[in-house]
Amino acid sequence: MSVVTSRIENNISIITIDNPPVNALSHAVRQGLSDELKGVSKNDDVAAIIIICNGRTFCAGADISEFGKPPKSPGLPELMAEMDMIEKPLVAAVHGTALGGGFELTLCCHYRVMESAAKVGLPEVNLGLIPGAGGTQRLPRLIGAQEALDMICGGKPISAKKAYEIGIADHISKENLLKETIKYTEDLIKEGKPTKRLRDLDVVAANDLFKEYRKKIAHKSRGFLAPFAAIEAVQAASELSFDQGVAFEREKFKELVSSPQSKAQRHLFFSERAASKIPGIDKTTPIRDVKKVAIIGGGLMGCGIAINFLNNGFPVTLLEVSADAATAAKEKIENIYRSTIKKGRMSEDQMNSSMALLTASDDYNDLSASDLIIEAVFEDMAIKKQVINNLNKVTDENAIIATNTSFLDINEIAEGAAHPENVIGLHFFSPAHIMPLLEIVKTDKSDIGVIATALKLAKSIGKTPVVSGVCYGFIANRMSSCYGREAGLLLLEGAPVDRIDKTLYDFGMPMGMFSMLDMAGIDIGVMAREKLSSEEYDERAFSVHAALVKSGQKGKKTGAGFYKYNGDKTPNQRVAELSAEMADKYGVKRRDITTKEIEERCIFALINEGFKIVEEGIALRASDVDVVYTLGFGFPRYRGGPLHYAQQLGFTYILKRMKEFAKTQGDRWWAPSKMLVKLAEEEREENV
Ligand code: 3HC
Repeated sequence: MSVVTSRIENNISIITIDNPPVNALSHAVRQGLSDELKGVSKNDDVAAIIIICNGRTFCAGADISEFGKPPKSPGLPELMAEMDMIEKPLVAAVHGTALGGGFELTLCCHYRVMESAAKVGLPEVNLGLIPGAGGTQRLPRLIGAQEALDMICGGKPISAKKAYEIGIADHISKENLLKETIKYTEDLIKEGKPTKRLRDLDVVAANDLFKEYRKKIAHKSRGFLAPFAAIEAVQAASELSFDQGVAFEREKFKELVSSPQSKAQRHLFFSERAASKIPGIDKTTPIRDVKKVAIIGGGLMGCGIAINFLNNGFPVTLLEVSADAATAAKEKIENIYRSTIKKGRMSEDQMNSSMALLTASDDYNDLSASDLIIEAVFEDMAIKKQVINNLNKVTDENAIIATNTSFLDINEIAEGAAHPENVIGLHFFSPAHIMPLLEIVKTDKSDIGVIATALKLAKSIGKTPVVSGVCYGFIANRMSSCYGREAGLLLLEGAPVDRIDKTLYDFGMPMGMFSMLDMAGIDIGVMAREKLSSEEYDERAFSVHAALVKSGQKGKKTGAGFYKYNGDKTPNQRVAELSAEMADKYGVKRRDITTKEIEERCIFALINEGFKIVEEGIALRASDVDVVYTLGFGFPRYRGGPLHYAQQLGFTYILKRMKEFAKTQGDRWWAPSKMLVKLAEEEREENV
């Protein structure tokens, strides 16, 4: 059956797109639409045309999987140009999300009816692109350049209500979208309303808007090409004719679609979705019903985790060691909500309904009805085992027991559980109510249904899940430890703290390693390493950290760490002294270090460990590692994650540099992963 069909009701042609799952504008859809539109515009029995979609959503945009392949006519711009020539009223009936090319399709219609729950948006910047089917030219003509820039550079969809307020939607349907759109169209015909072609309008743009907008997004969009290209395209809309503007947009789109940035961001789009596909899990896998959640531990992490569930309508019981501690944890959650309200991201009513779902307790018996219990207590094996022991007495055989440990062996934690098959890791990232990643750690005994339930649950609280096997630090923290090790060694070798940080920031990380440690608290890592033998980590690399903590300089919370915080942030002179002392102690030669070496040592350590994690089967696929490091630690999305970046840079080059590092650093940490060696061999064979 064709993906585009039409029927005539009275004198209105209803063109329906049916291309599951998201009605992407694939070649078949474009061809079908073009054919149908040509047919009905010539048909004298048709006075107006409605475009509507079947399934869960209006068109979610161009078919991203077609990018990079030879273009097939009609392309979207061709189709849109054909639509611009149609003399009969064209009405889009939007449900779900009209995104990218899907939204642009509605902008070629003369009127837009939206279901009240529908959204429209131009998320192309998230794929390293700009709208490429006239969106940068038509939208500013409809709503003005300022609002258009907000939508195009921000990439976030807007609600039907907002779309109506700013003039995108002409009518909001409350119950039956098709019925109401037909009625709306009949009225248009009766009233003889004209076709409203956006290409015929002028663009309203304030003086200096574009210059100011570049400044406005400079920090947030640092390193990304697409948002700035989008500004250029909207500026072109205000300065050139419509056709010239469309040609300008097309050129920019073509440049971007073949850029490494867009390839990287498209890689992440598909990788984030692939991460939930787990061998052995399909639609028949039994999912457990999770209605009530309990969190043990009301620290910052426990409270952040609780907020995720509260915000999504789950009743949460928060357990602390005493009634006072339970009350304090409840207050902590309320304070987080209050600061969210202050930032305008939540209303008082929303806070009240979330808080109404929260119960604070100091009695394990109150957890007996919980379907999922997440422990977020102090990172200590004995304490975690005690928690499991307590839970054995109150939970039933279906309750899922999750640990939020960052490093500990979950197989060992699970051993003490009455039902080890119900135990998993749910590793949230701090701040847990904001960070989008959730590492789901499966033990040797975790039931597949428990993993499937956790995957579903992650989606229902707005997280992107990645499944990891058990190892020290799982995927995220194991990689981060290697990255931190190199930063620490570089310090001893003579690179100043702010230079290391600036190099990593310039590479695209949200902040340098030492700024991050200062923010999180240096003592956390120091305490964790105290339990390790010297075989398990590089004592030299973390010796300055330990010395700082010993002297009470634990990071921002104590006013000093790698930096000093006296109103402003300046490098702590003590760090330079300690680095020299430790270099002396461990016999590390001090020297001038290039920026290139700083970057490569840190990033290649990350890459090598990432490949080891895949080859050991801890991560299911290389793309999972990319998802973890971009969502968990802010690795620049325009580089696609460490392993995608490795491919872009060239495996052979990385291996060559790693061999050079091994010559000066020894091969304790620079033994290459087998997978990296193999990929470099394949790369060389391909290039012969
Ligand atoms: N092209 C190809 N495949 C797409 C797609 C698209 N535009 N959008 C979604 N898909 C696929 C996903 O890869 C996934 O495939 P899978 O089941 O094999 O993993 C499937 O559709 C379902 O997607 P989700 O799992 O994301 O489903 P959700 O219901 O959670 O979300 C959505 C639906 C909000 C539409 C989300 O998929 C989305 O945001 N899609 C991308 C939208 C987008 O970026 N559009 C712009 C495209 S670029 C463009 O239009 C250029 C133009 O200006 C020329």
